Amino acid sequence: PSARAGAAIDRLTRVAPDFPVPGVLFRDLTPVLADADSLRLIGVALAVGFGPFDVVAGLESRGFLLGTAVAMAAGTGVLAIRKPGKLPGDILSEEFDLEYGTATLELNPSDVADGARVLVVDDVLATGGTAAAACRLLRRAGAAPIGVSVAIELGALGGRAQLGDVPIRALRLY
Ligand code: PRP
Ligand code: MG
Repeated sequence: PSARAGAAIDRLTRVAPDFPVPGVLFRDLTPVLADADSLRLIGVALAVGFGPFDVVAGLESRGFLLGTAVAMAAGTGVLAIRKPGKLPGDILSEEFDLEYGTATLELNPSDVADGARVLVVDDVLATGGTAAAACRLLRRAGAAPIGVSVAIELGALGGRAQLGDVPIRALRLY
């Protein structure tokens, strides 16, 4: 499934030069996810190649679409790791650096069982700040991030270095 999923990404991704700012080549997966066969293939492909896991964590926003597809393929539930101010209750927050400024992700630790093995799913691994913050949140909640599974890795941005020894799989490396 991984090779076919990768081929679907190659075929259907909308590549937009100078978006959202001049000089950036934006890879928009929207048309890939809108295609039924591609969505199913990608859900399966992102779920394989890791050790066993109990639940998937989808990273707001684009990781929600893929996270649910992976959870359905794997037969698990999906956890929402959210942008700030969206979750009620006693939540955990992790800040991370962006090119200009910072961003925050949040998790309600009550949503994840102690010791749960969690597969982190997102669309793109770029600088790695988003995925690394998600892994920190999961560890603080008493869970174990067992892998990071993404559709696309932008290799030049060095995101792997942010993730320590957490295994990373990408269906496409650019
Ligand atoms: C994008 C993308 C990844 C993240 C990757 O999300 O969906 O989550 O950036 O970048 P990083 O590896 O440098 O952290 P973004 O926060 O732009 O927005 P969205 O998912 O809400 O569209
Ligand atoms: Mg995102």
